[in-house]
Amino acid sequence: MRKKRKREHVENYLRTTYKGDTLLEDVFLQHNALPDLSFEDIDTKTVFLGKTVDYPIIINAMTGGSDFSWEINRDLSLIAKEFKIPMAVGSQTIALCEEEECRDSFEIVRQTIGDDGIVIANLNAQASLEDVKRALDMIKGDAIQLHLNPAQEVVMLEGDRDFRGILRNIETIVKGIGKPVIVKEVGFGISKEVAEKLYNVGVKNIDVSGYGGTNFIEIENIRYNNIDFSDLYSWGIPTALALIKCRELSQELNLIASGGIRTGMDIIKSLVVGGDMAGISGEILSYLLHGGYENARNYLEATIHKMKIVMLLLGKRNMEELKATDYKIVGELKELVNNL
Ligand code: FNR
Repeated sequence: MRKKRKREHVENYLRTTYKGDTLLEDVFLQHNALPDLSFEDIDTKTVFLGKTVDYPIIINAMTGGSDFSWEINRDLSLIAKEFKIPMAVGSQTIALCEEEECRDSFEIVRQTIGDDGIVIANLNAQASLEDVKRALDMIKGDAIQLHLNPAQEVVMLEGDRDFRGILRNIETIVKGIGKPVIVKEVGFGISKEVAEKLYNVGVKNIDVSGYGGTNFIEIENIRYNNIDFSDLYSWGIPTALALIKCRELSQELNLIASGGIRTGMDIIKSLVVGGDMAGISGEILSYLLHGGYENARNYLEATIHKMKIVMLLLGKRNMEELKATDYKIVGELKELVNNL
């Protein structure tokens, strides 16, 4: 059942057509006609989870658990290794509950990336501490992502309906696991209020995974057509808004910007407004499934190149300078930031 669902998520992601808005378009960055640096000077390295990575980009959680996802994870992890960036695997619940063979598609990621790279485990935030340990052990994970996905679960026919006690469970994991915990959404965003609750129980890494990219209400709607959920497609906190509000909480929070990150400009803007790293899921998966490994790696190479072009045009040499860039917000984003 889970294997079938995993495959349907990937296939139906490709069939989605609804376009949400991250509101990153409402972030204005000022051109610098006198950048006092050479393109060669631009340094995109950063430290994430205690290891240096070449770019502030994560290939974010998607899949695992079948032959079909073995190939996807093998290709994505080759790209992560080549560009020296972190990769998160998809939910490992399937590998904890089902046959041994389900593990291969997760283990391939660590095998490909090697011990120096960053590989991130992934489970639902309701998982037990014991299961989190097993998921980390399976891939020698540098960190565990715990996903919060109530909007997806409630529209999924076989999904969870009981969301009580999750914050307390996260606290137990944070206190008991001894490895970094990243709490993430799956495309509906994390508000400042939720981020504060997480921060107060010891969570230091939050992936806002906001609205504007992959839409799990639409993905689930394609899987079942007994009820039409299309009127809920606009639900969620746009990524730009989630980032700005969560960043207000603390400078210490390690914030990951994801949800609708597709271009070099998206990465730059999401880092300027508060992200420390940017996560890409759906867009790189599209390139992979439509044109194969070369297509996906070329997409990432071009995205990085454009990201560096924008850094040059802002006159920013490195990540520290980039993150300190002044910006202005306009339109709907300004209205929401000022009123929330
Ligand atoms: C996902 N995502 C996801 N997240 C997670 O924590 N565990 C998972 O197993 C999955 N599975 C999954 C499958 C597929 C096919 C997609 C496209 C996405 C959510 C993902 O990590 C991310 O939070 C959202 O997709 C938003 O980012 P993008 O896709 O807009 O870049």
